[in-house]
Amino acid sequence: MKTLSLKAAFSIATAVTAFGLGTAAHAIDELVINGEEKLVTETAAPAHLENMSTIRSGWTFRTDETKSLQMDDFDNPGMIFVDKAIDAWNTAEGAAEKACADCHSGPESMKGLRAKLPKWNEDAGEVWTMEMYVNDCRTNRMEAEAWDWNSADMRNMTALIGLQSRGMPMDVAIDGPAQSTWEKGKEIYYTRYGQLELACANCHEDNYDNYIRADHLSMGMTNGFPVYRLKQADLVSQHNRFRGCIRDTRAETFGMGSPEFIALELYVASRGNGLSVETPAVRN
Ligand code: HEC
Ligand code: HEC
Repeated sequence: MKTLSLKAAFSIATAVTAFGLGTAAHAIDELVINGEEKLVTETAAPAHLENMSTIRSGWTFRTDETKSLQMDDFDNPGMIFVDKAIDAWNTAEGAAEKACADCHSGPESMKGLRAKLPKWNEDAGEVWTMEMYVNDCRTNRMEAEAWDWNSADMRNMTALIGLQSRGMPMDVAIDGPAQSTWEKGKEIYYTRYGQLELACANCHEDNYDNYIRADHLSMGMTNGFPVYRLKQADLVSQHNRFRGCIRDTRAETFGMGSPEFIALELYVASRGNGLSVETPAVRN
């Protein structure tokens, strides 16, 4: 029953917004950054995706106005936060009196990392996200306080590190020791939650390109994270986005940094394998 009323919501909204589609001829359809770097926003789906043949970045679902903000680093509001992270990168903190820069030299030493995360950490014996790597250095190598998962410091730093891989194809490993975590993430993706009994897949696989309220539903890809959201005027982390989506189904959500969200992060990242890293993307 709930699903039925949602379907009605989808189609009514589609009818209303169909009015605006007359301008589609002028749509921006290529993501070129600073007039020189072309990113892959649509490509063949990775082999493990059974129900889709093509995957598309969230960028392709946004209005021309939002799209264009991501095409020039001077217009991209996420870059202010990247600049803040550069300061943090160079600042010594903690009892060891070390800065990131003392051991890693410049942020460009992190090139390629974002495209592979989350990944299996052999020493820890589990899948790690970027937040976990950063906090490992802060606590064990700098002897400083860990940053909260969703703190501004952490979001800014993940944007700076992610930016170093912009344009590289997402390429997370789903086999070997990471496989069981990936399977757990996949199970969560297809589980219906909340009063609305909706799974991630019901919106982002079955209904992408439809409208839900005023929102043009994307495939729910994570290649642009952390993203700058115009609505929040701030960077948003992946786990915070997951939390918001689950809340919209009126369900209790998993915590940021929970094993469930780490597994989900790996699975969702793998759905986007082949799309360019866009960090920091701009979304509405
Ligand atoms: C009721 C429908 C609905 C469900 C269920 C849902 N989402 Fe979303 N999600 C949205 C809407 C609406 C947006 C904002 C528009 C867009 O990007 O699709 C969004 C955005 C996202 C984005 C941001 C995409 C980008 O390019 O910035 C991600 C990632 C995402 N969802 C993941 C998930 C995951 C993972 C789940 C399951 C835990 C989920 N969503 C469940 C409706 C939903
Ligand atoms: C005292 C030296 C030291 C400091 C200070 C330090 N790191 Fe590290 N970091 C390391 C070492 C050693 C490794 C593991 C070896 C490697 O992969 O480079 C590592 C690994 C990492 C990784 C994972 C890299 C990968 O390829 O898997 C990230 C991300 C990272 N550090 C970020 C940071 C950030 C951000 C800071 C500052 C907040 C920082 N580190 C501070 C020494 C340090």
